[in-house]
Amino acid sequence: MTGRPRMIIDCDPGHDDALALLLADHLADVVGITTVSGNAPLTAVTANALGLTTLMQDDVPVHAGAAGPLSPGDGQPRHATHVHGESGLDGVDVPSASSPAGDDAVGFLLEASRRQAGLWLVAIGPLTNVAAAISRDPGFVGRLAGISIMGGSTRGGNVTAAAEFNIWADPEAADVVFRSGAGIRLCGLNLTHQLKTSAALLDRIHAMGSARSTLAAQTVAYLHDRMLALTGEAAAALHDPCAVLAVTHPELIEFVSRPVAVSLSDPLTRGMTVIDERFAGRNGPNQALVAYGIDAPAAFELLLESLAADR
Ligand code: BDR
Ligand code: CA
Repeated sequence: MTGRPRMIIDCDPGHDDALALLLADHLADVVGITTVSGNAPLTAVTANALGLTTLMQDDVPVHAGAAGPLSPGDGQPRHATHVHGESGLDGVDVPSASSPAGDDAVGFLLEASRRQAGLWLVAIGPLTNVAAAISRDPGFVGRLAGISIMGGSTRGGNVTAAAEFNIWADPEAADVVFRSGAGIRLCGLNLTHQLKTSAALLDRIHAMGSARSTLAAQTVAYLHDRMLALTGEAAAALHDPCAVLAVTHPELIEFVSRPVAVSLSDPLTRGMTVIDERFAGRNGPNQALVAYGIDAPAAFELLLESLAADR
């Protein structure tokens, strides 16, 4: 890839989303941020995204999107309060911020894709906004360079035995996206658990002393406390930064092209990404580049670099 990729980040900050935004701000030209109900309610994640743009001292527009899933059923938004707290960024001093640039994330996504060809969409929350954009304008995905998704897994979930949170929170939306013909890079839990924080990493972040590293240290320290309580291990998988690196540094990630489908109707597996590992290199409509391995030491160095940066 030549130059810095241009991208929109569709997110639900979220501790790992926050680190992904800081990383993207350092490695790419972020032309917009759209928010979606996910880790916390839409109002909370939008306020968090705005606060992070204050910290980053840039004028990236934030557009609020869907307040709940496309998926039928009880129609209730699903949150990850047990990990991220009620605010979505519990334990973190998020700078105060102004109002969003708009409340039509889907309109913004479509308009941005028409204005600039070759944008990447990095989707690190439930796929509600992305699916709505595809449904409103099927030409959308053809104007993008691709969609880099954090979601699903080649094996096992984190909300249910089979389903990962971002897909589980809106399976029908994920189904629309995987069937859309978009060029998809998929970073699932099988990959993101290879990028786990440690006490040594937290020490390095603490020692940096920048505004960004201070927020990152609070973020990682909070996750360590939560993970210790939830899993017995004070270490957190950095899920969402992987989807940024899949665009900015694909050479650090090993991908295999696989058919990906989403389980919708079986209660036991609803929200699971069913990845057909019998076939590599096929060219079907629901094909994605599935990430299997990452150079974690190199990824951590990029993360640390992004926290030192003033810009
Ligand atoms: C995903 O779910 C969210 O809680 C995280 O921000 C990440 O996007 C991991 O399953
Ligand atoms: Ca997220």
